[in-house]
Amino acid sequence: MTISSLPLVHADDEWSPLRAVVVGRAGRACFPSAPAKMIKATMPSEHVSRFQPGNPFHAKLIAKAEAELDYFAAILCAEGITVYRPEPDIDWVALNGYTGAMPRDGLMSVGNMLIEACFAWPCRAKEIEIGFSSILDDLSKDQRVQIVRRPESAFANTLLDDNVADNTTTATTWAINNSRPAFDTADFMRFGCTIIGQYSHVTNQAGVDYIRKYLPAGYSIEMLDVDDPHAMHIDATILPLRDGLLVYNPTKVTETELRRHAVLASWKLHAYPYTPKAPSEPPLYMTSPWLCLNALVLDGKRVVVEASDHQTIQWYESLGMQCIPCPFKHVNSIGGSFHCATVDLVRESSA
Ligand code: NVA
Repeated sequence: MTISSLPLVHADDEWSPLRAVVVGRAGRACFPSAPAKMIKATMPSEHVSRFQPGNPFHAKLIAKAEAELDYFAAILCAEGITVYRPEPDIDWVALNGYTGAMPRDGLMSVGNMLIEACFAWPCRAKEIEIGFSSILDDLSKDQRVQIVRRPESAFANTLLDDNVADNTTTATTWAINNSRPAFDTADFMRFGCTIIGQYSHVTNQAGVDYIRKYLPAGYSIEMLDVDDPHAMHIDATILPLRDGLLVYNPTKVTETELRRHAVLASWKLHAYPYTPKAPSEPPLYMTSPWLCLNALVLDGKRVVVEASDHQTIQWYESLGMQCIPCPFKHVNSIGGSFHCATVDLVRESSA
């Protein structure tokens, strides 16, 4: 199939040549109004006291984050990649939401299918609807594309109830129970027909079962055993840089556990060799400094990396990658890095 004849959604790994992508926009982003139990479970402890649910991030921080997102989008456009952007200037404060800068949490491409997250956090429930509907409308004009929208049943606000009937699988480890499907799509990484996921404070067994039900024929999910009491999003724990080479956070996952998954059994697996440090400013309010692994691979040879992170740039280069530096610290401050800020729509895989 030539590139122009590929469906508008056609991607099932993290490294094949990227041809189309969504890049988020911050909008009038605010600290998400998540329940206190959830904030405590998932946020860096040093910032919990600075976390002000529902309050906007500082306007200067947002202006800089928007400029970084625009610059990142321009880099991708200059590479010939089709870039879709969500609605500009959305007032997430008025909507009691969060931001449109982190679409990886809410959308996942699997083959020609795009799956919308069943977000656990009520403040994110309408994020895709509000920010990304026009993109989904455009993509759905291609009859070959299937979009799995979040169903009404996944809006039930029961995940933190202590006395729900089906409370057995997650209650002890995670903040959420199993009373309805919950998952953020950023708890999953795509390796062709195998998708590797993690349970977390936002992804439960019912959520994994839900995805399994909708996956196109031939795809399967395997769950990674991750040592992370604050787990929320797998994309600062593992990152495939190309077919056969994966980098990982050794404080959260072991090589043995990674090799337990047949798709990775013969891969080169490299533990990140340093302890990443958070910048003093702007603060990483919502994530750990392991965002150094939250990079966007363009084609198995090139990877977009935070411009000031010379340590990571040198390390990726030592692994044979060419790094494209892009300033992204202000986006990092509001919740994620290049992987979080994007959704792969088309990757031109040979499979
Ligand atoms: N919650 C994880 C992943 C962020 C993308 C972390 O903070 O490392």
